[in-house]
Amino acid sequence: MFCGEGVKFGPATAKALGPATELVARAAKAERFTGKRKSSLELVVPAGLKADRLLVIGTGKSADLQQQDFVQWGGAAMGKLPKAATDAVVFAELPGGAMSAEQAADLAQGAGLRAYAFDRYKTKRKDDDKPAANRSLTIATGDVAGARKAFAAREAISGGVLMARDLVNEPANILYPEEFARRTAVLKKAGVAVEVLDMKALKKLGMGALLAVGQGSRRESRVVVMRWNGGKKGVAPVAFIGKGVCFDTGGISIKSAAGMEDMKGDMAGAACVVGLMQALAARKARVNAVGLIGLVENMPDGNAVRPGDIVRSMSGQTIEVINTDAEGRLVLGDVIWYAAQRFKPQLMVDLATLTGAIIVALGQEYAGLFSNDDKLSERLTKAGEATGEKVWRMPLAPEYDKMIDSKFADMKNTGGSRWGGAITAAQFIKRFVDDKTPWAHLDIAGTGFDSRQSDINRSWGSGWGVRLLDRLVADNYEK
Ligand code: BES
Ligand code: MN
Ligand code: ZN
Repeated sequence: MFCGEGVKFGPATAKALGPATELVARAAKAERFTGKRKSSLELVVPAGLKADRLLVIGTGKSADLQQQDFVQWGGAAMGKLPKAATDAVVFAELPGGAMSAEQAADLAQGAGLRAYAFDRYKTKRKDDDKPAANRSLTIATGDVAGARKAFAAREAISGGVLMARDLVNEPANILYPEEFARRTAVLKKAGVAVEVLDMKALKKLGMGALLAVGQGSRRESRVVVMRWNGGKKGVAPVAFIGKGVCFDTGGISIKSAAGMEDMKGDMAGAACVVGLMQALAARKARVNAVGLIGLVENMPDGNAVRPGDIVRSMSGQTIEVINTDAEGRLVLGDVIWYAAQRFKPQLMVDLATLTGAIIVALGQEYAGLFSNDDKLSERLTKAGEATGEKVWRMPLAPEYDKMIDSKFADMKNTGGSRWGGAITAAQFIKRFVDDKTPWAHLDIAGTGFDSRQSDINRSWGSGWGVRLLDRLVADNYEK
């Protein structure tokens, strides 16, 4: 249940509390619980109630409540469910009265996001360590039909988030490019057209930069193209492009051992694009959208690309590979170019776990945003604030662009120094975007995995970006 400051309850909640009201007041006093936001009070086997546990979540002042507060509360409630609990009821009421159907649905969405766990490889868990098999969480609301309706779209979005988390959490021996591509086939069930480009197709297209990254791997590279046509016929699509490096050893410029296992998550951008396409289709978004992902594995090998090698991208521009660990930009350059040529999109957003430098700059709270378009930047920033998946705009400028000029080729794949590393990476990608197409690059190295845990995310792979970009589309590109 929810209470406001001064431990004030709404009428229906107060009625349900009935004989336990006095108990709650005493417990609140003992715990110095006053109903402030982000605080809660828990009672075990409260006398006078049928429930074994009572959780009171403080809502603080109700004047400045945001949608995300409700989502977070749903997550918090789910998080407090003991493993043995089979059923729970959440009263969708604020001290001032009933929550709206949308707010009740937000609670449910938050609970679902929190309930996710990636435990498919745990074979030795004791029964009493597992959550009860028949768990259920009910949202009690006066407007059941309205809440159900509002929940449908939210459930579609959550489904996309969970799909993305699963992909990011999966280890690289299981999820290599070909297998990743295979798994995108499930999107067909939601009405997404899925097309997989194999090695022959990629060679024919001339994606020499993407192929160079994968050439040291025993696994073949793939590009997957996903299309959802929910909008008006003939309207240019919005395009989303994801970096899908299924494992990044660094290649010949090999990474050090400590923490390298995290590089199974170097496909979080691609996972987000897949989850987003799933979400858009499942909620029948009225938009034309395309999602493209570049899937490779970056390995050291006798056949691997070397520092100093010069490769030809699909755009015709040549690239001197200075550091084989700066591989994501090679992948994105080709896929972005291809997306623009083939689909003439009205805008492009790419996502990539691209640089350690963005983590140095922004930590794990904000993703880096680089863009050639103020309006798109503003829309992304707003969507970030609305969903809690926040982005911070970083600069692009000719001075940084100069830093990737090469002595031998059109450009080189690193800036020469570590300074401004996230920016020079973005400048590299920008060379594959024509300036008439609004484009944004999101560097999600700090947010895609191993990021801040919250009431709605306890997973290593966060599924970051699905809710952000779904909101971007919903608020701006659906008619
Ligand atoms: N995938 C990494 C970036 C990364 C690092 C993501 C840590 C998430 C956590 C990327 O391919 C990479 O290796 N970038 C290099 C670029 C450098 C060689 C110019 C980096 O950031 O060090
Ligand atoms: Mn790398
Ligand atoms: Zn990488």
